[in-house]
Amino acid sequence: MSGHGDPIPMTARKSGPLAGDAHVPGDKSISHRALILGALAVGETRVTGLLEGDDVLGTAAAMRAFGSEVVRHGEGDWSIHGVGVGGFAEPEQVIDCGNAGTGVRLIMGCMATSPITATFTGDASLRSRPMGRITDPMGLFGASAHGRSGGRLPMTIVGARDPMPVRYVVPMPSAQVKSAVLLAGLNVPGETVVVEAEATRDHTERMLAGFGADLTVEQTDEGRVITLTGQPELKPQVIAVPRDPSSAAFPVCAALITPGSEVVVPNIGLNPTRAGLFTTLREMGADLVFENQREEGGEPVADLRARFSPEMRGIRVPAERAASMIDEYPVLSVVAAFATGKTEMVGVKELRVKESDRIDAMARGLEANGVTVDEGEDFMTVHGMGADGVPGGGTAKAHLDHRIAMSFMVMGMASQNPVSIDDGAPIATSFPVFEPLMAGLGAVIERRDA
Ligand code: S3P
Repeated sequence: MSGHGDPIPMTARKSGPLAGDAHVPGDKSISHRALILGALAVGETRVTGLLEGDDVLGTAAAMRAFGSEVVRHGEGDWSIHGVGVGGFAEPEQVIDCGNAGTGVRLIMGCMATSPITATFTGDASLRSRPMGRITDPMGLFGASAHGRSGGRLPMTIVGARDPMPVRYVVPMPSAQVKSAVLLAGLNVPGETVVVEAEATRDHTERMLAGFGADLTVEQTDEGRVITLTGQPELKPQVIAVPRDPSSAAFPVCAALITPGSEVVVPNIGLNPTRAGLFTTLREMGADLVFENQREEGGEPVADLRARFSPEMRGIRVPAERAASMIDEYPVLSVVAAFATGKTEMVGVKELRVKESDRIDAMARGLEANGVTVDEGEDFMTVHGMGADGVPGGGTAKAHLDHRIAMSFMVMGMASQNPVSIDDGAPIATSFPVFEPLMAGLGAVIERRDA
C-alpha cells in the first residue's frame, strides 16, 4: 500500500469532440464512512456503489485489522459485519493507509477512545501530511500519540482507557477533523460537542444519524454546533453510495474546454457542502445544466450535462465557498486558463496540506504549459488565455496527487500542444477507471515508457 509501484508517465493530446455518458465511480468520502460506520454497527451493513479505489480499499483492510468482517460480493457490492461501538480489537500489524488522508484521520478518530494501540503509516505523500490536527483533539479525550517530528506518520496512537467527552472548536475548515472527533465521541459516555465556524462536508453527520446515533446540529453565532450522545448502538444499514461530484468534475471540465463537446455525467450527488465547483463554473458562463434533479438516500442527486463553453470569463471565487469545492481547485485552475480574464481563488490555504501542496503543484504545472499564475500563502490567481489560447507542451509533476495528475490530463485535451505528467499512478486512489472512461468519451491519453 505505502507506495504506488513504478511511476506511470502519461500524455494527453488535443481531443474531441468529447461525447457520451460518463459513469464516474462512487463517492470517496461516503465510501470511507460506509466501511467505518459499518464496522462500528452491530450486524451486517450492505453497501452498493462503493468506490473501489486504493484509498477506500485501504480503509476496508483497516476495518478487517480492527476485527470486523468485510466481504466483497461483486463490483462495488460489499458487506461489513460490524463489531459495535467500543468493539474494536487491537490490530496485529501496522495500518497502512496508502495515500488516504481521510482514511487515516477517520480511523485514528474511531480507535482513539478504545483501550487499544495502533500504529499508522502511508505513502510518501501521506507521511508528509500533518496529523497534529487529529492528535490534538484526541489528546483531549485522553489518547496519546507518538509520531515523527511535526506530527507526521508513522505514528502510534494509544487509545484512552477512560475517555472524557470534549467540546472542540475545529481550528481550520476540515471535515476530516470534525469527523475524527465525532467518531471518537461515539465511544465516550456523555455528550461530545464539535463546533465548526464554516460548514464543511456533512456526510459524517448525515450517516451517523442514519445509523441511529443521537446527534443534533444547530446553527449559532459561533458556527455549526454538532452534539453527539456517546455509546449508542449503531444499527446496520443498506447504503447506495452516490457517484462522486469530485470525480464528475473531470469529465465535466474536459467537456467545457474541448471544442464541440457534449457530455452527460449521470447520478451525481449534489450535497450543497460539495457542489461549489458547479456554482462557480456557471458563474463563469459554463453551459452546465442539472437534469432530473431528485433525492436519493437523503442526498440531492442530478444528471449533469456539460457542453463546450468557449465564452467563459474569469471570476473571483468567494472564500466562503472554498470548503464546498476544496478538492476541485486544481481542475478549476485548468478551466480558468481557458477562460478570458483572471480567476482569483482566495481563502484556500488548506490546499497547501492536501495530497500535495496543490497551490504550488498547479502553479508550477500551469507555468510549464505557458499559463501565468500569481500565488500567495492563501490565494492563487490564474490569468486566462481564452478557449484556444493555452499553449501546453510542458510536463507537470503530479507529486503523488491524483487530482493534480487528472487536472493536467484534462488540460492536454484542449491545449495547442500535448500536456504530460511524470506519474499518473496515483489516479487509482480515487478514479481507477479514469483512462478508459475518458477514452470512451473521445479523449486521447497515452501512457509513455517510464
Ligand atoms: C474529506 C475532507 C476534505 C477533502 C478530502 C475528503 C472527507 O479534507 O479534501 O478529499 O471525506 O472528509 P479536509 O478535511 O482536510 O478539508
